[in-house]
Amino acid sequence: MNNSVQKNKEYKKYIVDSRLKYFKPHATKIEKTFAEEISSSLDRVNKSIHPKFFYDKNGSDLFEKICSLPEYYPTRTEISILKNLESELDTFLENDFRLVELGSGSSTKTRLILDFLTSTQKNTEYFPIDISEILTESSEELLNDYKNLSITGIIDTYEGGLEFLKTYDDKSNLIIFLGSSFGNFSPIDGYRFLEKVYATMKPGDLFLIGLDLVKDKLILESAYNDSDGVTAKFNLNVLSRINDELDADFNLSNFSHRAIYNENDQRIEMYLKSLVDQSIIISKSHLELKLKKDELIHTEYSHKYLLSQIHDLLDDIGFDLKRTWFDDKKYFSLTLVSKN
Ligand code: AVI
Repeated sequence: MNNSVQKNKEYKKYIVDSRLKYFKPHATKIEKTFAEEISSSLDRVNKSIHPKFFYDKNGSDLFEKICSLPEYYPTRTEISILKNLESELDTFLENDFRLVELGSGSSTKTRLILDFLTSTQKNTEYFPIDISEILTESSEELLNDYKNLSITGIIDTYEGGLEFLKTYDDKSNLIIFLGSSFGNFSPIDGYRFLEKVYATMKPGDLFLIGLDLVKDKLILESAYNDSDGVTAKFNLNVLSRINDELDADFNLSNFSHRAIYNENDQRIEMYLKSLVDQSIIISKSHLELKLKKDELIHTEYSHKYLLSQIHDLLDDIGFDLKRTWFDDKKYFSLTLVSKN
């Protein structure tokens, strides 16, 4: 990869070729390290590990597996909705929209939208925003398959990438945030995130968000307690990551996976349960973690929504509702909004 000129103060621009470039922030931002975050979230009464730490290489591979499990309906349901929606997109995409994706996503879903854009536009631009450099691999394949596509990757947090986009240029953006990843935010962080998306958008820009819907408790709980135990491995993997990267001594067989649906708060809650009284050293966090038998470490929320709640939330932020699509069983939804 060629290290070329700096485009602006905070980001460095890397040009691979005429159709592929990246922007990456200079390492000047002061962000808490993994060791510090783990130390502060585990050294308290209600212990937790932030779900963003699930996604090391092994965790990302396990998540890919989850997406094709029979019990995990969200991915295949969202894909089926996207397939139907393709034929209706031209009503909303009259301008020359660039596709901006929050998270580089599963290429199946991105491709469904790119199929449409590349067939109706002379040149299509795709801007994936993702903290992981994984998007450098998937980009090459997309460029081979779509000859009129160019890709600009923004290797940063969603917030950083949105801030970057805000002042980039005047072209219309279709921003997509799929997979119900929004459901993993706490309600307050989710609200702030939507405000950020709204503030980034120019008049006429569009935002498409995929959200999982409230449904029968049994269906929800089996999606997060699959019979092959892949979700359990995914949850426990975060402890292996801490062992490897922070020099810790978690014994994984002393923990079990727990996922329950909290009907009041409309969310799946995922935990790691300590099976014994134990003490764990996390060297790089300078922490000796003491856990009682049955004590829980919270690892993830996955919020589920009613259609009316989705509309109220988006309306409250200021978005104009264009359309919501869902599947026959109303398991999952995709909502398109604009900023006028
Ligand atoms: C990424 N996210 C939307 C998934 C979800 O369903 O909340 C993560 C996940 N956790 C367990 N299974 C899947």
